[in-house]
Amino acid sequence: PAMENIAGNLFFIGLMGAGKTTLGKQIAQQLGREFYDSDYEICCRTGVSIPTIFELEGEQGFRDREAAVIDELSSRSNIILATGGGAVIREQNRLHLQNRGTVIYLHAKPEILLNRTRHDTNRPLLQVENPLAKLQELYNTRDRLYRDTAHIIIESNRYNCHKTIEHILKTL
Ligand code: S3P
Repeated sequence: PAMENIAGNLFFIGLMGAGKTTLGKQIAQQLGREFYDSDYEICCRTGVSIPTIFELEGEQGFRDREAAVIDELSSRSNIILATGGGAVIREQNRLHLQNRGTVIYLHAKPEILLNRTRHDTNRPLLQVENPLAKLQELYNTRDRLYRDTAHIIIESNRYNCHKTIEHILKTL
């Protein structure tokens, strides 16, 4: 994709545990921009947690809410948005993100993501017997979609958050 929106929105995509929210918040602070997180926004609007939405409405119900929030937030200007890991599943989301801002894929391998999501109970897709196998499966199906959607691909390294941010800002 072409980089036409450098001064506009910044959208983070990538798997669970990649650091989209952490990095997004910090960059927003540095740039003095508004920060949004699509999961957090969904929780605020429904008043319930992500696992509860999955329980009550299934994954498809959650995806519908996610698509609505992404459509709305990506229409704004100069915001930083951390999307949920599954945002790229739907073509409509991919197109909105790609066309309405600069998309940054925070890449990390499943083994690293496992460590970062290990004690987490807020991600229904990982509440399975073998979360590593699940992350590998998601990686295998989504890595291509993240790469195709992103304008910039960044290696996520939580031990060097500062360097990563510097790198992103330089790349923009
Ligand atoms: C999901 C990722 C989560 C959340 C939901 C589904 C996914 O967001 O949207 O649990 O399909 O990868 P994070 O990537 O912020 O954990």
